[in-house]
Amino acid sequence: MLADNLKEQTLTYHQQLEKKLVSQIKGLNTKEDYLQLLQLFYGYFGGLEDRINLFIDQNILPDHAQRRKTGAIADDILALGGEPVTKATGDALPEINNADQALGAMYVIEGSTLGGSIISKMISGKLGLTTGLSFFNSYGENTHQMWDAFKAVLNKQPAEIEAAITEAANNTFLKFKNWIEQHD
Ligand code: HEM
Repeated sequence: MLADNLKEQTLTYHQQLEKKLVSQIKGLNTKEDYLQLLQLFYGYFGGLEDRINLFIDQNILPDHAQRRKTGAIADDILALGGEPVTKATGDALPEINNADQALGAMYVIEGSTLGGSIISKMISGKLGLTTGLSFFNSYGENTHQMWDAFKAVLNKQPAEIEAAITEAANNTFLKFKNWIEQHD
């Protein structure tokens, strides 16, 4: 199945990103540190979603309207008294010129909801926050159901576009790691 192959083919990049983020999260000590982390996600996911939205609509992904993440990050930033930052553009983002590449990038964004529940527990436990966690809480108890629905859409795609989806997903992981390193 396409979704299983994608998981396997992107595992290395996921692990590299996860390692980077876990060490960042362990280093968070204050609300301001957490705000900076949210701003990092806002910049990258914000630019990425703007590109994805040019190619993904309800015909490809029926519940697309429920899946946008940038608004939730902005809400969390504002709830903690911060300001959204400038979104990533140009080469800081992966190339997204068609729906295949957009699906690959979206795999990364949607998959982040799975790690998100772990991240939100790490952060709320460490900083004792009760607000500003909506992005990392993502779909709450519906997270696995939303993930399964997204994988079902991936698995409906023709095998010919698997390589394009995989390349876009790996570029999306890699550019996010670069983005974090640039803002360290
Ligand atoms: C502290 C950071 C992170 C941790 C601890 C983490 C952990 C996890 C875990 C445990 C899963 C598997 C969940 C399951 O199968 O039920 C997962 C899946 C996934 N995560 Fe992460 N993650 C982290 C960050 C991220 C980020 C930032 C992204 C993307 C920007 C991401 C993308 C994905 C993707 C795409 C999957 C789906 C893999 C599949 O195809 O099944 N993760 N993550």
